Amino acid sequence: MHPTGKTPPVENALNGSKELTFEEVKNELYNRHHPSLTSLDIEVHAKTVHKIRTLKRKHNVVMLGHNYMEPLVFGLSDKDEQGDSLGLSMFAAKTEAQYLIFNGVPFMAETAKILSPNKTVLVADKTAGCSLADNFGAEDVRKLKELYPGAPVMIYVNSYADAKAESDICCTSANAAHIAKSMPGDTLIFVPDIFFAQNLEEELKEEKNVVYPGKDNTARGAVCEVHEKFTLSDLLAIRESFEIPKGHPKRKLYAHWECRPNVLKEADFYGSTSQIMKDIAARVEDNHLERAFVASECELTSNLAQEFPKVQFWTACSVRCSHMAKVRLDKIVNILEAIDSGEDLAEYEVTLDPAVIDKARLPIERMLEASV
Ligand code: 13P
Ligand code: SF4
Repeated sequence: MHPTGKTPPVENALNGSKELTFEEVKNELYNRHHPSLTSLDIEVHAKTVHKIRTLKRKHNVVMLGHNYMEPLVFGLSDKDEQGDSLGLSMFAAKTEAQYLIFNGVPFMAETAKILSPNKTVLVADKTAGCSLADNFGAEDVRKLKELYPGAPVMIYVNSYADAKAESDICCTSANAAHIAKSMPGDTLIFVPDIFFAQNLEEELKEEKNVVYPGKDNTARGAVCEVHEKFTLSDLLAIRESFEIPKGHPKRKLYAHWECRPNVLKEADFYGSTSQIMKDIAARVEDNHLERAFVASECELTSNLAQEFPKVQFWTACSVRCSHMAKVRLDKIVNILEAIDSGEDLAEYEVTLDPAVIDKARLPIERMLEASV
């Protein structure tokens, strides 16, 4: 609640084209009526949000925001700058801006750099990792290619550029099934996510032989350390205690592709972060959603709770990606201040060997062509 008791209407701060005063920014934050954004949060952070907004506009910075960003960080991005890995890659491919701040983890920013090598791509924290990307590399792809000669390699976007450079095509959770079906031959190697691969194997069982690390081989693969936390018994307990029975027309349980196969099977809907958001939006539009639980990173649910205030959401704050959590307002403002004062940006800039960029671009561009 605004301290004056009033919440004067202002243009949403998500529309970055308009300059807002400090008071207007603060009012906009209060106007969000976000369930987990307290007056204290707003009073403490409004000055930084205003500064970021002003410098972003002054230097024509594109600020991409992944759906897992905490609400105050997520709201720094204009609506069309927010999204899942696929949407953000597509945006990065077409933007004209010289500076691109990627509020997400570095493998995502690498994709933007590969698609726009002449742009300055910046991240709040270069040490932020990802359990999938960190535990799999180019050598692991080469080993699998030796094991299954001639089979194309489809690599999940949650990987670093060197591993992508060894692969035939890239995919995200929004297009994996579609891209897999478009690949030639009966067999497809999918890396590095083992649960995702098993989910894909189940979905495509009539059409493709999906092979992956650990399936009748000793190759190294990885799982998402956040999504693996959800077990089938957790989901069944949530169904019972939050009263979301299977088949209920207005209560739904959602899961991300990176969850365990038995969790995905139990869910009423599974998809990428944006696909989950779109399904919720469509049901809200038709007045068909009163309650939901999303088995994914908890800030996705925070952002959903803001967008769809009439839906009752449950969330588990312990299911937070510690890597995504490294992207914070205080670090983002430092990047913008460095741009403003002409300081060296090396601490934030994502750089890649031009030879790796050249090789890694092909699988990403193939994915983008196959996605339209
Ligand atoms: P999306 O592609 O669905 O945004 O997911 C990215 C991710 O890292 C999920 O954990
Ligand atoms: Fe990686 Fe999982 Fe974090 Fe996504 S949620 S960035 S897959 S560790």
